[in-house]
Amino acid sequence: MVSKRAFVMGHPIAHSRSPMLHGYWLKRYGLEGSYERLDIPPQEIDAFFAGFRDAGWIGGNVTVPHKTAVIPHLDSIDDAATKMGAVNTIWWQDGKLLGGNTDAIGFLGNIDELVPGWEAGTKKAVIFGAGGATRAAAYGLQSRGLQVALCNRTLSKAQALADHFGAGVGAHKMDELGDLLADCDLLVNATSLGMIGQPPLDIDLSPLKKDAIVYDVVYVPLETQILKTARERGHRTVDGLGMLLHQAVVGFERWFKHKPDVTTELRQILIDDIRAKTPGA
Ligand SMILES: NC(=O)c1ccc[n+]([C@@H]2O[C@H](COP(=O)([O-])OP(=O)(O)OC[C@H]3O[C@@H](n4cnc5c(N)ncnc54)[C@H](OP(=O)(O)O)[C@@H]3O)[C@@H](O)[C@H]2O)c1
Repeated sequence: MVSKRAFVMGHPIAHSRSPMLHGYWLKRYGLEGSYERLDIPPQEIDAFFAGFRDAGWIGGNVTVPHKTAVIPHLDSIDDAATKMGAVNTIWWQDGKLLGGNTDAIGFLGNIDELVPGWEAGTKKAVIFGAGGATRAAAYGLQSRGLQVALCNRTLSKAQALADHFGAGVGAHKMDELGDLLADCDLLVNATSLGMIGQPPLDIDLSPLKKDAIVYDVVYVPLETQILKTARERGHRTVDGLGMLLHQAVVGFERWFKHKPDVTTELRQILIDDIRAKTPGA
């Protein structure tokens, strides 16, 4: 039996691309270990954690719908997971089972890679959304000192998030959008709008400053309508695939003690998989 066993747990889990990612790195670095896909319904979480140590798990990833439900089963969680109220990575440290959230690291690692030097002159961000991806983006941008304006279909959710994050994060009504865009350096779509099967994020980009960056966390399709429009208008754009790749680096390093690279080859493997499984992507 493999001695270093990691996992991704969720329900459903068949769609997860994490096994492809971590499997690629295990093979690339010739490391002993496995990364397994676990479909765990909510009623089986207690039993899963009761048998965690005996099963020999070295840790793993947590996805929908378990990101909050796992927290009571862990000895402690890091600052990011505490602030986001969600855990996506579990590992052992000094005999304790710890949880963290690497989505903000993924969000930032992606823009750091695709737009080197982006922070110079970037002070204000507008984020669409108020769900899990927005928490990651807001936490990441707040940690880099940006002022963040949240806009969401349901204003009360954006307001609750702004209250939660505090300094430098505010909630705004959609009818303030024109003024917000005219003053922003980074626009982020963190809603599910623009995903295959969803309507596009339909906003007028004309008030946006010419040098503003447009970032979409959606990665199926790789280039959403809003990114296409932004690119055609001459904006620098960032797609969501690198966020998925970069958030995985931290977990892999914790479990297998080797910091993996986000390579062009890995990115292409995922793009090919997305295109093969999603007509129109
Ligand atoms: N690249 C990555 O690694 C990564 C990581 C995480 C998530 N994502 C992507 O990010 C997107 C959001 O994920 P999430 O976990 O944040 O989802 P979520 O928690 O369910 O939040 C969804 C957000 O989208 C908004 N929304 C949904 N349908 C809408 C509509 N028809 N009109 C206006 N707003 C709408 C919701 O607004 P209300 O509050 O009004 O409902 C909410 O703000 C998904 O596409 C997901 O695949 C990507």
